[in-house]
Amino acid sequence: MSREREKFPSTESIRRFFDRLKADFPKVEPVCKHFGRCGGCYLQDLSYEDQLRVKLEFLKELFSDRFELEGVIIPSPQPLYYRHRMDYVCAFSKMGLRMRGNYAEVVDLEECHLISPRAFEVFRFVKGRARELGIQDYDFIEHKGFLRYIVVREAKFTNELMIAFTATSPPDLLQRDKLLELMAETAQRAESVYWLKHEGLRDHSYGEPVKILGKPYIVEKVGSYQFMIKPDVFFQSNPLLIWKAYDDIKEHVYGRALDLYCGIGTISIYVSDACESVTGVELVQSSVEAAKANAELNGVKNVKFYAQDVGEYLKRG
Ligand SMILES: C[S@@+](CC[C@H](N)C(=O)[O-])C[C@H]1O[C@@H](n2cnc3c(N)ncnc32)[C@H](O)[C@@H]1O
Repeated sequence: MSREREKFPSTESIRRFFDRLKADFPKVEPVCKHFGRCGGCYLQDLSYEDQLRVKLEFLKELFSDRFELEGVIIPSPQPLYYRHRMDYVCAFSKMGLRMRGNYAEVVDLEECHLISPRAFEVFRFVKGRARELGIQDYDFIEHKGFLRYIVVREAKFTNELMIAFTATSPPDLLQRDKLLELMAETAQRAESVYWLKHEGLRDHSYGEPVKILGKPYIVEKVGSYQFMIKPDVFFQSNPLLIWKAYDDIKEHVYGRALDLYCGIGTISIYVSDACESVTGVELVQSSVEAAKANAELNGVKNVKFYAQDVGEYLKRG
């Protein structure tokens, strides 16, 4: 068991820890009417400055048996509307996020302040039309139904929007046509629209592309670099902030650098001009392909990417 697991064996124990910390700070009116029921936000009833204090205390506690954590948390340029991605679950005639402390319940979101107002408007449209068209949602307890997730991904510096519908195989031709109709309408409002097929029992929003409307990727900028983002890859949650963290990394790297768990090569490419070369290692082949394509897009020549388990890669010595 990892030391993090020993210290915080469950989400519930993390929540209790946060509750104890929160008790020392004055409460403010939360922005969102769903706060308290929705599992998406936990600290919205504190001022942003106090939220940062609580998070720093949590990190100090988490690492306390290894080292004394110094420094501060870099604040987000905006505490709301910052997220790159939201996975809204579609179940039990609701579309939104899981209820706080109850995975089996979904809060039907009428507002959400984590993505931009434009992105949430598109989600609201999709949600309304899915209901009007009678598209079946997916019961993740009984594993029955069709539409599992609506994933919203947003590039903050180009304003490009991706909407991905994650669904099982269509139960009939009518359901298939309804989803295609919804996709066509969504494509009027978003740059990239995907239908992803995921039939397994595992509860996630990834899947095999069945149909794509518009662009196959959206492009996000990090400093002067651009990154193509497809539905199957990771991108940092707060694009407004990451260049600051990557600038920090850049100050400390030189020579031949290794970027372990490199994803789509964001860090490798960002720090490449401070290094002789950067080698990125990533397990998922499609992310490695994306990293190579991103290096090419940015004209960066001194980076290499390998699809391999990091543990295995390091064993090579
Ligand atoms: C949180 S993402 C970070 C990606 C990148 N460093 C960034 O900041 O954008 C972690 C990445 O590690 C990859 N990964 C997870 N386990 C791995 C392993 N055992 N070996 C190599 N890569 C792994 C995942 O596929 C994912 O792309």
